[in-house]
Amino acid sequence: MGEVFPKCTIPSRNETPISNRMTIKAISDLHLASAANRDALLELPDFGDDWLIVAGDVAERFEHMQLAFATLTRKFAKVFWVPGNHDLWAIPEERGAPALAGEERYQALVQCARDHGIVTPEDPYETWTGPGGPTVVAPLFLLYDYSFRPDHVSRDEVVAWAREEGAVCADEMFLNHAPFESRDHWCERRCEETERRLSEIPDGMPTILINHFPMRSDLIHIPRAPRFTPWCGTRRTEDWHIRFNARVVISGHLHTRRTDWRDGTRFEEVSLGYPRQWDQNLGIAPYLRDILPEAETVQEAASSRR
Ligand SMILES: [Fe+2]
Ligand SMILES: [Fe+2]
Repeated sequence: MGEVFPKCTIPSRNETPISNRMTIKAISDLHLASAANRDALLELPDFGDDWLIVAGDVAERFEHMQLAFATLTRKFAKVFWVPGNHDLWAIPEERGAPALAGEERYQALVQCARDHGIVTPEDPYETWTGPGGPTVVAPLFLLYDYSFRPDHVSRDEVVAWAREEGAVCADEMFLNHAPFESRDHWCERRCEETERRLSEIPDGMPTILINHFPMRSDLIHIPRAPRFTPWCGTRRTEDWHIRFNARVVISGHLHTRRTDWRDGTRFEEVSLGYPRQWDQNLGIAPYLRDILPEAETVQEAASSRR
């Protein structure tokens, strides 16, 4: 998100999972504009048959995006990616050059990902049949529509309301929404299309939903910037974990690593973040969140919450 730097949970080296079983792991907000993050990415070990979910905010430049895609597809058997707001910023590759923007930039990013064999929100959903499966893995691009705001604040007033307490998102400058009328309209279109696709998943099939932005407002914990919420999601998705049978919902954006539970669904915020938000002595590997198979403690938590 860029404007707030909340304290984050830092895993210890002892928590690094060691397993011979195939797993799905997840991370987001690699923010590869930082050299320290790029160096650490290159140091990741080979994860063999594991799958990796990358929940957005990889980089502002295609050069760094390609670095991530090439590196991660060498180290994991399958990689999923969804765009974050930073990935969509209309930043030129070189000073003075024209920048790809809006939907055109998104489609170029999708093509870049596909060129590396990465699964994007535009591709058919894959099904995990490894330990803990079968589960449909659904990468989503839903954006936000400023509806995470108090009821007394209108859409027209929301940016000024946020600014009153110093919350301003750089997306207002850099996240171009062309050809849509607004980011709200882009979000609306994405949600409608995504709902249609998710509705086609067979009844009873569990899912993993992946979206850069948190899918419920009550998952946002940014006490240092409480009025940043308008740039964090949409009320449209508050019940999608129930409607679409989600075992796990994965997001980033907030740079507040945590696990939450709602209605028996596990919500994982899996951000790495800027260099000062993670322990560079550990490397990135301990920050890869295990998604499936569920550890016994997670299974117990899930059953007690259902
Ligand atoms: Fe981020
Ligand atoms: Fe973000």
